[in-house]
Amino acid sequence: MARVDLRHIEKGYPGLKALDDVDLVIESGEFFTLLGPSGCGKTTLLRTIAGFIQHDSGEVLVAGERIDQMPAHKRNMGMVYQDYAIFPHLSVADNVAFGLKTRGRPKPEIAERVQRALELVQLGNHGKRLPHELSGGQQQRVALARAMVISPQILLMDEPLSNLDAKLRVELREDIRDLQRSLAITTIYVTHDQEEALAISDRICVMQSGRVHQVASPQKIYAEPATLFVASFIGAMNIMPVGSQEGALAAADLPERLRARGPMTLAIRPEDVIVGQSTNGNALAVEGAVEKVTFAGREAYAHVRCANGLHLQAHLYRPSAGQLALVGESVRLRLPLDRLHAFDAADGKRVELPA
Ligand SMILES: Nc1ncnc2c1ncn2[C@@H]1O[C@H](COP(=O)(O)OP(=O)(O)O)[C@@H](O)[C@H]1O
Ligand SMILES: [Mg+2]
Repeated sequence: MARVDLRHIEKGYPGLKALDDVDLVIESGEFFTLLGPSGCGKTTLLRTIAGFIQHDSGEVLVAGERIDQMPAHKRNMGMVYQDYAIFPHLSVADNVAFGLKTRGRPKPEIAERVQRALELVQLGNHGKRLPHELSGGQQQRVALARAMVISPQILLMDEPLSNLDAKLRVELREDIRDLQRSLAITTIYVTHDQEEALAISDRICVMQSGRVHQVASPQKIYAEPATLFVASFIGAMNIMPVGSQEGALAAADLPERLRARGPMTLAIRPEDVIVGQSTNGNALAVEGAVEKVTFAGREAYAHVRCANGLHLQAHLYRPSAGQLALVGESVRLRLPLDRLHAFDAADGKRVELPA
């Protein structure tokens, strides 16, 4: 268990900054997730922490000690990869024993620790099996046991669920989270899946093009995205540029005190858009026509085309037959002012609107 400090980490490849001044603190025992689209630098950062990649500048500290110059095998970290990376010709138990053997631990100790690690991941009876006799989810559990068996200070996981089907992904992520909580092991988890990140993390770091956009709890990231990028990447969001161009909200429709703020982009979540009458007087009203309604059981989404080609989605919770039959109808949407997110049009940073 240990805290990780990343100070001004830079890593460049020819013609590209893979990590651009990454400055983070991961608290001891925390489940910390690096989230961002493919190519944003998640793996590069994780491998820098593991010691497989040497950064150009900056500092990596674990429990207050600089480890920049320490070779990867001396760092007490367990790693789990997307493709499991387990040895196909070794039994499950021998796969898990690998890290202890290379560390020269005595045989009885290895046998006991391997069995304990397998029980942690609910594979206590599978030690003698070969990997190909296991399902994908079980193979990833083996990889997890192998990472945990060395009692690492830090657990690193790089998209460990990406090769599994949707149902298994949810199941295993719950198990990973439970295991992490019970052991209180500092965990740095990489995913491009925002829903997974929201479900599993204590805190999330949202990255784009090697830069950190926001570090906060899942709730805070969802409720108060720090940049337009975070707003559009996490959860569903209606993005509304303000102006006269196609697809924009007309500035004339905004209250004076919002117009006064200067060029910005507004955004609102579909679940905050009210369809039809509302008692909330403090809202923008937008007229539109319902183009389609996407039904998803407990909920539905109304896709509304408004003036000037602006498209808005409204979330309908437990939709009524009447709401599902809205296609082709004209509707009035209300966008409560206290539900609007605003971002500076120039740098994309969140702007607090006057109340
Ligand atoms: N060895 C390398 N040489 C050159 N470019 C690389 C190398 N490794 C990664 N990159 C580039 O660095 C960026 C970040 O990559 P990566 O950390 O793998 O992103 P992610 O894991 O978020 O998908 C990408 O643009 C990728 O193409
Ligand atoms: Mg990656």
